Parts: sequence; C-alpha cells; structure tokens
Amino acid sequence: MATRRPTAAAKARPKAAAKKTASPTRAAKAAKKPLVTLAVDIGGTGVKTMLLDESGSPVSERLRDETPKPAEPMPIIDIIVAQAAKHGSFDRVSVGFPGVVHDGVVATAPNLDNSWAGVDLAATLSERLGKPARVLNDADVQGFGAIAGKGVELVVTLGTGLGSALFVDGRLVPNLELAHHAFRDGKTYEECVGAKALSKLGKKRWNKQVRKAIEQLDHAINYHALFIGGGNAKKLEGDLPARTSVVSNACGLLGGIALWRN
Ligand code: BGC
Repeated sequence: MATRRPTAAAKARPKAAAKKTASPTRAAKAAKKPLVTLAVDIGGTGVKTMLLDESGSPVSERLRDETPKPAEPMPIIDIIVAQAAKHGSFDRVSVGFPGVVHDGVVATAPNLDNSWAGVDLAATLSERLGKPARVLNDADVQGFGAIAGKGVELVVTLGTGLGSALFVDGRLVPNLELAHHAFRDGKTYEECVGAKALSKLGKKRWNKQVRKAIEQLDHAINYHALFIGGGNAKKLEGDLPARTSVVSNACGLLGGIALWRN
C-alpha cells in the first residue's frame, strides 16, 4: 500500500500552523468574530447602555433608566444587568463612572452616594455579566468619543456635575477633577456651572458663568481645543469661545470603545 510522504514544505511547517492551514478550527473562526462592547454611562440622573461594534458604532438602541435615589451601588448595578439582558449578546463591557476611578475601583462619587467608595465596579460587573469589564471616569470616556487626538485637548461635560478630561496627543491624563476646585466667589466650578447652578441661576446667567469658567480654564491649561459635552451642553447660547466646540452627549457611550484599544 502506498504511503503519502510529507512534502519538504509540510515538514518545515510547525504542526499547529499546518493544521490551521488545512482546516480552520472553530476557535480560530470564533476569534475572527467581531467583538461587541456593552457601553455603560452612569450619570447622576440616568443610567444608559448601548452595544457598539469594533469600530465604535452603535449596533443597538440606547436604553435609559432613571438613576435610583439613593444612588447606591447595588440598585445601579442591577439596572445595568437588566439593560444588558435586553440588549442580547456582547463580549466585553466599558463603563463611564461619575467620579474618580483607579484600576476599576471607585474612589469618589460626589453626585451618587458615599457608599460607592472602594467598590470594585470592574470586578463586580465582570462577575455579574460574565464578561471582562473596564471602568473609567465618565468625562474621560466622553473625551475619547470627542477628541481629535492631536495636541492638548480639554473636555468639559456639563451635566449633574462638571466633568473634565485632559488628553495630550490622544493620550489620557486620567481623573482630572476640576469640578471641586475653587472657581469664584468662594464656590467651586461644579457649584457655579453644574445642574443645580443652572436651575438656580437660569439659562442666561448660567451661560455667563460657563463662559467665565472656560476663560479661566483656557488661561490655566492653554489647550489647543476644548470640547463641551454632557446633557446641559445644549443649553449653551450664542457664539462659543475660540477653539471650542459642543459635542453630542452620545460620546459618553461611544467613547467606551477606546477602553479596549491598546
Ligand atoms: C465628579 C467627576 C465627574 C463629574 C461628571 C463630578 O462631580 O467629581 O468625577 O466626572 O462630576 O459626572
């Protein structure tokens, strides 16, 4: 009986590679499947989720629930898990959190609840959802969705709180917390331009305050570009200062794809 002798090329080929060329395994096929990211944006008034494809484009509708009061960890995590179940399958999770976050662990949550301090949100969500999870500050995530990736770019979000994020040639300086620093009249930036200030001052005076805050930040940081996002950015009126543009609040979810870039 004739036996088939391996050719010189087949002999030279490592075994695994020879197998792969002959018939792609199921694992290899699965590895080529585009990864879907569950993007989560936890805010002072709403908890939002959406699925993104590998390019960061939405592949599901956006789901939103009111942030529970008190805004403690478990009720918010339960909302995320319930929304995730409605979306269908995904491979990984990106979260924007409204406070300082170090390696997935929450340090502060000024507009949610003090009980968040020390919560390992990345580990908890990963366990509840059965997928790897990464967590960054919400303004940092929003920034990734907004910036051009060139020079010094500052991102400010006007929502319940005041978010801030700084990027140098597309690289994040994480957890820039301008919100609670002194701005004017003994008040912080967040006290002067956050949601409470908007409802107290009214649109016109709030707009003036925002412009003053921008002026001061420009002098302090000397950015090349400023992007303003967050739910209240749409309340800005009149011409914007130089090098400033308003970006969609959707960036808070769309930026989530950047958490999985190397
Ligand atoms: C927090 C920031 C957060 C911002 C917007 C501020 O109160 O300190 O970490 O990015 O609110 O949510």
